[in-house]
Amino acid sequence: GNSAIGIHDLSFATTEFVLPHTALADYNGTEIGKYHLGIGQRSMSVPAADEDIVTLGAAAAAPIIARHGAEGIRTVVFATESSIDQAKSAGVYVHSLLGLPSAARVVELKQACYGATAALQFAIGLVHRDPGHRVLVIASDVSKYDLDSPGEATQGAAAVAMLIGADPALVRIEGPSGLFTADVMDFWRPNYRDTALVDGQDSINAYLQAAQGAWKDYTEQGGRALEEFSAFCYHQPFTKMAYKAHRHLLNYCGHEVDEATVARHIGQTTAYNSVVGNSYTASVYLALAALLDRADDMTGQAIGFLSYGSGSVAEFFGGTVVPGYREHLRTAAHREAIERRKPVDYARYRALHERSFPADGGDHPTPSETTGPFRLAGLRDHKRLYESR
Ligand code: CAA
Repeated sequence: GNSAIGIHDLSFATTEFVLPHTALADYNGTEIGKYHLGIGQRSMSVPAADEDIVTLGAAAAAPIIARHGAEGIRTVVFATESSIDQAKSAGVYVHSLLGLPSAARVVELKQACYGATAALQFAIGLVHRDPGHRVLVIASDVSKYDLDSPGEATQGAAAVAMLIGADPALVRIEGPSGLFTADVMDFWRPNYRDTALVDGQDSINAYLQAAQGAWKDYTEQGGRALEEFSAFCYHQPFTKMAYKAHRHLLNYCGHEVDEATVARHIGQTTAYNSVVGNSYTASVYLALAALLDRADDMTGQAIGFLSYGSGSVAEFFGGTVVPGYREHLRTAAHREAIERRKPVDYARYRALHERSFPADGGDHPTPSETTGPFRLAGLRDHKRLYESR
């Protein structure tokens, strides 16, 4: 059909615990300005022993099902790069925890932090084919680097759930997509590791090249001019990266880079990511949540999205904010998701980081730590066991 398609509802969830960067800096002797100003991060979400991408994803999606019901949701796309199984989609556990109808397709998508944008585009295509169809897109990740590595300060965890459909209440996704792919080894995680490998400075350059390539293709496909956008949601592995990327695009487009314009375009989008940390696939949509929750009325305004996944794939696309969108926001719940987290000290964080299940097929219950709506009860016979409260 010809009807507008886009984001009808958006909800995020994050972890039980939070580690302030002051605690990390005290432990490793880093000058705190490097974290607060240099990378633009203040704290990182830390999963409890009984939280993972499934419990976070289900917690993000549950309020969407509570508001809209499950009717019409025939597809669930779960995007992640911190997968818990090589074969089974994490989305199938979420489908079960939420009691979604059996007449549904469920699949997991992966291309580093870009996966949720592929999921969004997949969803839009399905709704185009059948405007009555609604797609639940879930982006859920736990970002883990080696202890005492430069990446450690950019860890985080969160899930964003979005309901994609016709006549959306929040943001219409419109116009062409600008695409870019290049085979680079800036960041990756072999199957035998649970922490990512990264060449930090290389990865920043790879991001900037990919952003430029995606933007170039976007303009060649007939997209809007840069000046037509009121705000830009960038993938934020750390929030200063959005500033680096935006300055790079302004430069590339021949604009004078004045910091007041950069702050106006980016400023509201970093509020959640700066206290959550890198949530990989969820990051660019957490930026959108922050923008919609915090900015003055954006009705009718155009938002640019730059999704980047190391390895690497980038996509630039645009959206327009729908009249009446403010009545559909979850600003209070989002603030609560941030504020309910309990601070942990460095030792507790380190112990949680070092946890992993033995691969012996035994019975391994997890301690009861999370107060969230879903928990990972343990591992038994190599099977993950989940519970709802
Ligand atoms: N006060 C203020 N600023 C300070 C400071 C102080 N006391 N000390 C240092 N800084 C500044 C530095 O000048 C630098 O700023 P610029 O980048 O503007 O020059 C910033 O703080 C960071 O300092 P360094 O570059 O020296 O930091 P580092 O070598 O420890 O590494 C990092 C930083 C590369 C981001 C590292 O944290 C890392 O490897 N992170 C993981 C990889 C990553 O996030 N890459 C991003 C692109 S890839 C991607 O986007 C996909 C993804 O999600 C991973």
